[in-house]
Amino acid sequence: MEKIAVLDSGGQYCHLIARKVRELGVYAEIFPVGVNADETRGHQGIILSGGPSSVFDAASPQPDPRLFETGKPILGICYGHQLLAKHLGGKVERGQTHEFGSATLRVRDEGGLFDGLAREHRVWMSHGDHVVRLPENFEILASTDECSVAAMGQAERGVYGLQFHPEVIHTPDGPAMLRNFLRNACGCAMSWRPKDRVDILVQQIREQAGARRVLFFLSGGVDSTVAYALTVRALGSPKVEAVYVDTGFMRDRETLEIEEAFSALDLGRLRVVDASGLFMGRLRGIADPERKRVVIGQAFVDVQDEILANDEYRDQGWVLGQGTIYPDTIESGGTDSSDVIKTHHNRVKRIQDLLEEGRVLEPLSEFYKDEVRELGRSLGLPSKLLERHPFPGPGLAIRCLCSSSAAGPAADERIAALAEQYGYSAFLLPLRSVGVQGDSRSYAQLTVLHGAELDYRRALPLSTAITNEFRHTNRVVATLAPRRIEPSEWRIRPATLTPERVRLLQRVDRAVTDYLRSDGLYDRVWQSPVVLLPWSRDGGESVVLRPITSVDGMTAAVAELPRDGLLALASRLCEINGVDSVLYDVSNKPPSTIEWE
Ligand code: XMP
Repeated sequence: MEKIAVLDSGGQYCHLIARKVRELGVYAEIFPVGVNADETRGHQGIILSGGPSSVFDAASPQPDPRLFETGKPILGICYGHQLLAKHLGGKVERGQTHEFGSATLRVRDEGGLFDGLAREHRVWMSHGDHVVRLPENFEILASTDECSVAAMGQAERGVYGLQFHPEVIHTPDGPAMLRNFLRNACGCAMSWRPKDRVDILVQQIREQAGARRVLFFLSGGVDSTVAYALTVRALGSPKVEAVYVDTGFMRDRETLEIEEAFSALDLGRLRVVDASGLFMGRLRGIADPERKRVVIGQAFVDVQDEILANDEYRDQGWVLGQGTIYPDTIESGGTDSSDVIKTHHNRVKRIQDLLEEGRVLEPLSEFYKDEVRELGRSLGLPSKLLERHPFPGPGLAIRCLCSSSAAGPAADERIAALAEQYGYSAFLLPLRSVGVQGDSRSYAQLTVLHGAELDYRRALPLSTAITNEFRHTNRVVATLAPRRIEPSEWRIRPATLTPERVRLLQRVDRAVTDYLRSDGLYDRVWQSPVVLLPWSRDGGESVVLRPITSVDGMTAAVAELPRDGLLALASRLCEINGVDSVLYDVSNKPPSTIEWE
């Protein structure tokens, strides 16, 4: 099988590169940048990813020098481009400033990477250091105003370096450049498709499970259902058990719907375990999001342990089955150089231990969401199930924001002045949520825009301008109802998870889902979390709508839903007892994450 090795220097974008390569029809695998060159022997080409390091740092991750002697095609991106220059005899210098954002690329050489493409391109730059001298026999292929060696290469060897990021959407012709690398430099036929992997996956599951049985904890979502269906195909349903743990943080009527959907699939019996009391009890009084995630992860493990201790599993060899997918492993700090953004419930310590003992089966851990859907289709699963929006394991618990103290909004003159240029009033709310800045986690305050109707053409650039300029805020919301807020009348109150808050969130979430479905919007968004904030005028809650579009959840853009429908929805929501305001999240990922916690 044709494959490409993507060497990871710690960039979140590494997954985007691998995903793009697969989308173009070549299987891509990620390795740490320092991997032994022998491990890439079977690969048609190598891509060196970007990353947060500088080649000048003594501890910066370095590739095996033998990589450059293999004669394989190599594409270096950003930090990878600088590594190429450094290792092949060129020169890198520290930049005086950091170049970040869109730039116009002018192509000098039309062949190779730019074969068949225009002479000018919009590209995305994000770097401090830059290449000032080419390695021997290399040519400058393209430049921007700020960066003369924006693309370099030695076409005969198929070795290229790009200072910009071809893998992000802000480089519209990036996929065409990657395609040229794969086809022209690596000679790939580009015919790989996820569904062609089904037989291999089935074989792998059989080998890994051996004589052991598999206990699958299903969430009712796409990933765990597809992973389970694959495992049943590999081992037959008598050897696979399905258990669904009701945490109490599912959406309205969801447990019932999952049971019905599962029985229609005819894949075996689903055992439902009601653990809602345990989960709520353990989370009582906890406000910190990472703490909530860790407690939820541990509660899952304890419920699983109890099930395993009670039945026949104790005497038999068993393996735990999970629907973990590729990005789940990196956003929890899955590769050597990456930071922990959020602790996913399927990557807590106990599960890590089981993983090390070889007792976790994760058939989808190499796949991305859209590929999982394709696998599901080829297994014959119904599209209604496959097209469901992703729902996080910790469920509504991480959509119900908590606060350990009381506070009021804070005036921030600089943010207010910036907002005024766009026709909005703005203040800062000391309620923090998680974001991703560069390759690291951020946990910062919220900016509220109000005083004008939601207008995407103004609110979205303003949101970007605010989060680019100020580090103490990583997320921006705009009011839907009421439109204007008198900040001094509104307070954040201390709040933790309670059954009443969860029930209110379920009710609001149901109303939002009904609206999305009835207006034909459900399939136009990737996900649409609804978040509850303990911020109010009359002792109730504020509701945030967070519809986004995405391909894989790694990056996301604000979904621009029609305003009239939203305003009507917002006034319906305000009629629900306990809802004081409705806000619209106007932050992309990055700098915010999709879920708030
Ligand atoms: P973030 O919030 O990190 O979310 O931008 C990216 C995607 O991952 C989902 N998500 C989770 N899924 N367990 C899961 O199974 C989790 O703990 C978890 N946290 C976030 C999120 O809904 C989005 O689709």
